[in-house]
Amino acid sequence: MMLVLNGPNLNRLGTREPGVYGSGTLAELEELCRRWGAELGTEVQCRQSNHEGQLMDWIQQAEAEGFRGIVLNPGAFTHYSYAIRDAVAGQPLPVVEVHISHVDAREEFRRVSVIAPVCRGKLSGFGFLGYRLALEVLVAGG
Ligand code: DQA
Repeated sequence: MMLVLNGPNLNRLGTREPGVYGSGTLAELEELCRRWGAELGTEVQCRQSNHEGQLMDWIQQAEAEGFRGIVLNPGAFTHYSYAIRDAVAGQPLPVVEVHISHVDAREEFRRVSVIAPVCRGKLSGFGFLGYRLALEVLVAGG
């Protein structure tokens, strides 16, 4: 069982800057993740929060809840949340950081991820497909 976590403003997918993030909604992304998980032979649970502490609680509890890996799109927290970085570093599950947009081709501040160094790896710029690739990595054993 894998956990897909989406951070702040990702509840606005579909209406939020569609030129950058596409026209698909969060509900559609989550449905795709569950379907991709089924194809890969794993259950997928999806959660979204705009709140740093909520994301940290879910990351901290994931192993005890029975998850085997985490796909994490931390949204803008990527660029400055040492608290989420510490939550990732302080738990044993493999975490793959995912960004829908190509963060390295955008504003300077998006090139920095304070979380990626404690993740298994980072996927960016492949739209929703990045979540499938991340699930494949985790199903393969992280
Ligand atoms: C994002 C990229 C971040 O820089 C931004 O703050 C987001 C979304 C992405 O998925 O491309 O909220 O994580």
